Amino acid sequence: MQVFNTNSRIIVTCNKRLSPYLVKEIEGLGFSIKRSFSTGVELEGTVNDCISLNLNLRCASQVLYSLQTFQAPTPQHLYNELVQIAWEEYIDVTGYFSVTSVVNNEHITTPLFANVKVKDAIVDRIKEKKGVRPDSGPEFNKAVVNLYWQGSNAEVFLDTSGETLSKHGYRKIPGKAPMLEALAASTIMASKWDQKSTFINPMCGSGTLAIEAALLAMDKSPGFFRMNYGFMHIIGYDEQVFFVERRKLKDKAKKQIDFRIIASDLSADAVDVAQRNAKTAGVDQLIEFHVCDFAETPVPEDSKGVVMFNPEYGERLGVHSKLEATYKRIGDFMKQNCKGYSGYIFTGNPDLAKKIGLKASRRIEFYNGKLDCRLLEYDLYDGTRREEKMPEPYSF
Ligand SMILES: C[S@@+](CC[C@H](N)C(=O)[O-])C[C@H]1O[C@@H](n2cnc3c(N)ncnc32)[C@H](O)[C@@H]1O
Repeated sequence: MQVFNTNSRIIVTCNKRLSPYLVKEIEGLGFSIKRSFSTGVELEGTVNDCISLNLNLRCASQVLYSLQTFQAPTPQHLYNELVQIAWEEYIDVTGYFSVTSVVNNEHITTPLFANVKVKDAIVDRIKEKKGVRPDSGPEFNKAVVNLYWQGSNAEVFLDTSGETLSKHGYRKIPGKAPMLEALAASTIMASKWDQKSTFINPMCGSGTLAIEAALLAMDKSPGFFRMNYGFMHIIGYDEQVFFVERRKLKDKAKKQIDFRIIASDLSADAVDVAQRNAKTAGVDQLIEFHVCDFAETPVPEDSKGVVMFNPEYGERLGVHSKLEATYKRIGDFMKQNCKGYSGYIFTGNPDLAKKIGLKASRRIEFYNGKLDCRLLEYDLYDGTRREEKMPEPYSF
C-alpha cells in the first residue's frame, strides 16, 4: 500500500478540551471532519494530507494515519495480527522506529508491555521478509508506530508527527510556568479577538500568548519552525511534497500588521526571555515589550481589542492572600483602564477568580495538564452601557 496516496482514517489528537479549536483549524484547511471528541478529531485522507496537517495545525498533538483495525483479546492475538501487516513497506530495514500506545486491556498492566509486543511483531516481520532487523528505541525523531487498544478492539497507526505538535518550536527558553503553545493558541482562538485589533498581554512571562497572537495575526504556522516529522521516515516519502507545503506557508504569511501587540511583565528577566523567544519566532519586531507592573501596561484608545492575562494561580485550590490582592487589582485595572476591550483571564483557581469582582460573560473550559481551568471572559463596557458589578460566583 502506498500510504502517501491512499485514503485512510486519520485521527488528529490534541490536549483535552482543545478539539473545538482544532476542528476550526482543520475545516479552515479544507478538510471535512467526520467526528470530534474531547481529545481529537477524525477525518479521512492520505499521508500527503497528513503532511499538510502537521505543518499547519496550532492546536494539535499528533496526526495519526490508520493502518488497520482488528480484534485482539490478548497480547498473543495482538502479536498474531500485527505480524501479518506488511511493515517492510513502511519502515526501512536500515531505519529506526519507536512505539507509543494508549491501552486499556485486562491483560496489560503497563503500556510498555504492549509497546514491546508491537515492536517484536514489527521486527520479526521485517526480519522474516528482509533478513535484517531494524533498530528500535524510545526516541520519537524517526518513524513512530502508535497502538490504540481498548478491550478487544485494536487499531494501529503510523504517527506521522513523531515529536508532539503541541510545542511550536520557538520557545527555546521556557521561563516560569509557561503555557503549552497549543493551549495558548486555543485560548486566543476561543476569545473574541479578530486578529486585526490591539492584543494586550500583561504578565506575559515567556511571551507565549503574545507570540501566538502575533503568529495568528501573520498567518504564520508552526511548520515554519520544524524540519523533522514522523512522515519523513516512512518508505515512499517524497520531500518535494514537504517543500511545496512549506512554500505555501511562506507565501501566505503576512510580513507586517497594522495594529499593536503589547506584552509586559514585572520581571525584567521574563521580558528578556519573551523577547528572545519572539525573535526565534520571527515576531519580535511586531510585539512591544514593557517591564512594568501589569497596571502600568499601556492600553491604546484606538483599535480596541483584547486584553488577556495568565496570572499565577498556585497548584491547588485554596486561599493565597497575595494572589487574592493581585486578582482584585486585575479586575480594577480591566474595569478602569480597558474600557471598550474584551478582557480575559486564564486561571485554574476558582477562589481567586472570585476576587476579580466582575461578572464573567463566558467561562470557557480548558485543562492545563491535569488541572481544570477556565478562560474567563469579561465585556468591559466603555461607559455607554451599564457595567456589571456583581461578584464572581464561588464556582467556575
Ligand atoms: C503564570 S506566569 C505567565 C506565564 C506565561 N503565560 C507564559 O506562557 O510564559 C505569570 C507571570 O506574571 C508575572 N507577574 C507577577 N506579578 C506581576 C505584576 N504585579 N505585574 C506584572 N507581572 C507580574 C510573573 O513575573 C510571571 O512571569
